[in-house]
Amino acid sequence: MRRAGGVMLSQLALDREQSTPLYRQLYLQLRQLILNGVLPPGCRLPSTRTLAKELDVSRITVISVFDQLLAEGFLISQAGSGTYVNAEVQHQVQQIPSNRNPIPRVSGWSLAMSRRSQRYTKIGKKTWYDYPNCFVPSSPAFDQFPRQVWNKLHNRYLHHPGIELLSYGDSRGYEPLREALVDYLRDVRGLVCRKENIVVVTGATQAINYLGWLLLDAGDVVWMEDPGHVAARLAFSGTGARVLPVPIDSQGIDVGYAETVLPQAKLLFSTPSRQHPLCITMPMQRRLELLQWAARADAWVIEDDCESELYFHGRPPNALYTLDPNSRVIYVGTLSKVMFPGLRLGYVVMPEELVEAWCALCTVMDRPPPNFTQAVVADFMAEGHLISHIRRMRELYAGRQQRLVALLQQHCGDFFELQQAQAGLQLLAWLPPGLDDRQVSEAILQEGVDAYPLSHWSVNPNPRGALLLGFAGVPEAEMQRGVKAMARALRRQGWLS
Ligand SMILES: Cc1ncc(COP(=O)(O)O)c(C=O)c1O
Repeated sequence: MRRAGGVMLSQLALDREQSTPLYRQLYLQLRQLILNGVLPPGCRLPSTRTLAKELDVSRITVISVFDQLLAEGFLISQAGSGTYVNAEVQHQVQQIPSNRNPIPRVSGWSLAMSRRSQRYTKIGKKTWYDYPNCFVPSSPAFDQFPRQVWNKLHNRYLHHPGIELLSYGDSRGYEPLREALVDYLRDVRGLVCRKENIVVVTGATQAINYLGWLLLDAGDVVWMEDPGHVAARLAFSGTGARVLPVPIDSQGIDVGYAETVLPQAKLLFSTPSRQHPLCITMPMQRRLELLQWAARADAWVIEDDCESELYFHGRPPNALYTLDPNSRVIYVGTLSKVMFPGLRLGYVVMPEELVEAWCALCTVMDRPPPNFTQAVVADFMAEGHLISHIRRMRELYAGRQQRLVALLQQHCGDFFELQQAQAGLQLLAWLPPGLDDRQVSEAILQEGVDAYPLSHWSVNPNPRGALLLGFAGVPEAEMQRGVKAMARALRRQGWLS
């Protein structure tokens, strides 16, 4: 913990009423902070002048204390650099005693927390560093991102950030980015809108959560694709809405089934251009059916369009938003797939009438995403780098998919029925009927390889098991290793001869 200027040492408290001299109090407290590890080895202390000023004591007092701690080996001094906690005291450091009582728990979760939180516990993920272990879905090729261009654009703002980058900025997002998004959406998704319709978010996940808060009351019905986007299902149920699974047929979400069998919905969530995770493209007839229902029911449709830009051949179908004359569709896009997920930027296109309410909600929940990042991305888009990157990635991912198919056929024969993707980052590998995909996924994981089971996205059981295999972020050597490990796992279980 080297910190320019030294740590703040807010734990120090000198009592002028005590008979113990200030010098001794300061010495004992600093030594204790070092011994119990609050000041770890290598930690830089503030200068004696700064500390004396902050504690309102004479500099001589602080110098004497530092001298004693230096003499005892608790501190070391580096000429011209400062005073540090000596790394040698590490072996003396005791654990900080924990004197807190644990929070009482019922069935593994704390009583003191909301019911909403209980829904989230099972899926909690502390880190996402398993990216891009093969074959994690939704993972782009990190190594192919044009870092030089990216760094150059960063430098443009790094040295002279204007006030618009240092302040909270506009709740709708940085204006030049919204302008760049208008051009991008028209060009890439055939979606015509104005910058006044766009808000920038930290990703589709935030967008979906905010839309849940904005549009739903407890008890409202949501029709949700099943299998479908897990985070969206949980986000909506977190609002207290009744989230009802709607099956996917060969054309996408089965609106006819929902209308006949389920209570009327206030909101429908769909991934029409590329159903997640079944990779189905919704044909025009079903799109029109869906929009007609939304108009009849006066319901909202959230269109999550997360990877349609990455179409391998020909042109992707235009966004559902473009067909909607009644302003029922709210379009959610993300840069996580076409750039990288750590960027944390996405966008929502919504009827202008909703924008003011959205901004009010944002003011309560958070502030807009970092303006600095938004400015860099605005330039990245406006100068054509994003389009070039997408073109390159389309080609790369199409090639990687072909390679994965060839390797799977070579090492696993016809064990899988492969459903190749027309777009995006993953394909579906259907299992022989009767095999449980969670069991298969678990066996493959034992070999250190991720192959997510389709059931992960499902509420109701699927008629047939499958694995969703991400290929886009997996380079050749890694892919070979992964497929061989997969074949080994299948053989070990006796599923593959
Ligand atoms: C269906 C779907 N939509 C959107 C996203 C992107 O989420 P975010 O923009 O928050 O990274 C994902 C991420 O994997 C996804 O699976």
